[in-house]
Amino acid sequence: MALVLPDMAVLPEFLRDEYGIVAEEAGRVLGYAIVRVDNDSAFLRDLFVEPDRFRQGVGTALFTKVTDYARNRAAKKLTLGGDPNALGFYKRLGMIQVGEEPSIVGGGRMLPIMELDL
Ligand SMILES: CC(C)(COP(=O)(O)OP(=O)(O)OC[C@H]1O[C@@H](n2cnc3c(N)ncnc32)[C@H](O)[C@@H]1OP(=O)(O)O)[C@@H](O)C(=O)NCCC(=O)NCCS
Repeated sequence: MALVLPDMAVLPEFLRDEYGIVAEEAGRVLGYAIVRVDNDSAFLRDLFVEPDRFRQGVGTALFTKVTDYARNRAAKKLTLGGDPNALGFYKRLGMIQVGEEPSIVGGGRMLPIMELDL
């Protein structure tokens, strides 16, 4: 976790150029997503759900908001570098794996690159 921390921090400056979406229930944050749109391409930086709320539709709700936002900004495709453990989630949402990239943790760990036509 220490190795990936620099990549995981959400810095205030991200939200100058990127769009943040928060899922809340009674004032408690259940998850969040951050997406960036450059011309006709959208990039999903983050999508995280609180572990005690996994498999209750929060991730799908956040992902739907992400794609709505990207389409409204005229993006034609959405890409992300995901965690292998989230592959099933993204595939269920229609994304396809188009490649892979090395994780910053090293050790040969590879992360899937996923894409969705919007
Ligand atoms: C991946 C993540 C965002 C999914 O969020 P979630 O709120 O649990 O997802 P949903 O409840 O909307 O799941 C919708 C469907 O996706 C699939 N799915 C969800 N999590 C899955 C998993 N870990 N493995 C396989 N399929 C999964 C299931 O088909 C699920 O439907 P079902 O519960 O009816 O079977 C969440 O598990 C998470 O935050 N994980 C840790 C961080 C992470 O990996 N984020 C992605 C970084 S790229």
